Amino acid sequence: MCGIVGYIGNKSAATFLLDGLTKLEYRGYDSAGIAIFDGQNVFIEKAVGRLDALKEKLKGRTPEGVIGIGHTRWATHGRPSDQNAHPHTDCHGDFVVVHNGIIENFMPLKEQLIAKGHHFASETDTEVIPHLVEEFYRGDFAEAVRAVLNRIEGSYSLVFMSKKHPDTLICAKQDNPLVVGLGDGENFIASDIPAIINRTRRTYILNDGEVAIVKRDSVSITDRRGNAVDKKIFHVNWNAEAAEKGGYEHFMLKEINEQPKAVRDTMSKRVVKGGDRIVFDELNWTTEFLNGLDKVYIVACGTAYHAGLVGKFYIEKLARILVEVDLASEFRYRDPIVDDKTLVIVISQSGETSDTLAALKESKRRGAKTLAVTNVVGSSIAREAEQVVHTWAGPEIAVASTKAYTTQLILMFMLALYMAQLRSTVSEERSRELIGLLKKIPAQISETLSDVEPIKTFARRYGFNEDVFYIGRSLDYDVALEGALKLKEISYIHAEAYASGELKHGTLALIVEGVPVIALATQKSVYDKTISNIKEVKARDAIVIGIAADGDKEIEKVVDHVMFVPDTDELLIPLLTVVPLQLLAYYAAITRGCDVDKPRNLAKSVTVE
Ligand code: M6R
Repeated sequence: MCGIVGYIGNKSAATFLLDGLTKLEYRGYDSAGIAIFDGQNVFIEKAVGRLDALKEKLKGRTPEGVIGIGHTRWATHGRPSDQNAHPHTDCHGDFVVVHNGIIENFMPLKEQLIAKGHHFASETDTEVIPHLVEEFYRGDFAEAVRAVLNRIEGSYSLVFMSKKHPDTLICAKQDNPLVVGLGDGENFIASDIPAIINRTRRTYILNDGEVAIVKRDSVSITDRRGNAVDKKIFHVNWNAEAAEKGGYEHFMLKEINEQPKAVRDTMSKRVVKGGDRIVFDELNWTTEFLNGLDKVYIVACGTAYHAGLVGKFYIEKLARILVEVDLASEFRYRDPIVDDKTLVIVISQSGETSDTLAALKESKRRGAKTLAVTNVVGSSIAREAEQVVHTWAGPEIAVASTKAYTTQLILMFMLALYMAQLRSTVSEERSRELIGLLKKIPAQISETLSDVEPIKTFARRYGFNEDVFYIGRSLDYDVALEGALKLKEISYIHAEAYASGELKHGTLALIVEGVPVIALATQKSVYDKTISNIKEVKARDAIVIGIAADGDKEIEKVVDHVMFVPDTDELLIPLLTVVPLQLLAYYAAITRGCDVDKPRNLAKSVTVE
């Protein structure tokens, strides 16, 4: 996720670009850059770090100019650096581009362009785009852009500028947001409405496949073949703060709703076309490497630790390698049994969590092989680990982690299947079946998100209880832990998760009349046992809310209410069952009037011990 802006008109481009980028900094903040045509040349300035670093560089030398583009980056391909910051240009600086998204086929395109003599200045996937425009340009800017769009695969919102056409900006969209703001003698382009809301409320919200040719006094929209598209103006009536949250009341709710895309992006390029193999271009693992390991250690904190528990299940089940999971704050002082036959996987959304970083350093000191799973390119953990695989969730702003968790789950699942394929511990048929189901997960998450009314009702009804219990077996237990953490941290309700089979060893004493128990019952291999455990709490007059897969007829007979999620393989269903639990926590916090995005005593990134 990155933020992009463009301006063409009769006022200072730089003023709009920097204001707009400030409003979009929540979309990415590892580096930023602008390009402005000053009447003769294209002036480009970029800076690694927060937008303030760019503003500092521009002090006293901001160019005059009434056409320009800008970008705030959330790195995917290539670490955060001045070189990798956008805008990017072709060999001669004639065409300038900013991009939000991932170009999946950039490697073969880059090889072809290099073979034709193009010189690349960055490690980004984006840079192929201006070079392709250079390649296709025959005097018609829009035609060259359309030719490029028909060659690239992946997701994008793009703005193109050319010093050969100083009266035109061109923008295009596929799977990433883009809006054109309509002014008087000036027009604006941005990833998101907050960037333009102070200038205009008249907009075109572009759809996938649309291309806008934006001039000072006109905007024309076509499809990728150049056919005109008749578009209606959308009047924005949100306030600026709501616009930043995409119209959602809180970042947490926005991020919950971003999960289908975050999961799809994390899968992208890792599921081979044809759907029978998983690949990780970032890893050079071999069968010998994996067979030489005697165990895997997964180390993390909080939600990432809960993703690690699910990861253990995946790796053991699919790749048949022993996995230990530990809290980073315990691991680092445990004198862990870790050596050169151990692969230590650290999971961290931020890549900055102090305990996780220390555990990683300790593992390296003991000779372990190390792999980081993180959402932040160039973070301390990403730099410290020998190898890194990224989740592509985009920036997570709310303290309560949601889309980071689901992307960590999908990544751990793919990693386990990748390991299993190398070790031949899953059949080709099972592998194909799982990948087929994996590809359906983003749509199934969307389906789960489509009906929140029953969840709101439960939250209103039970949101004032002081204790809530979560139970489940196997992977349901791991998800129960995450559900309970979500409820605790944002609604301040005391919530505990128990493995259902453990209830009779003590916790059952706490189950009395009216206590809400959320029972996850999706694991087919232990389904009957789970139902028996639900009956145990029902017999003590608990109020039971079941979470089950569509088509489950039994559950309704034993619980008070059920929330159904779409059915899938029991390995993948945690990606779906966690969604109603996130929403329940969210609406319970709303019911209790809590500050959802900034819960008391907590910080987004825990960089202290
Ligand atoms: O950035 P990290 O993934 O390393 O953060 C780990 C935990 O601090 C984090 O998951 C925390 O538990 C969240 N607030 C949970 O919602």
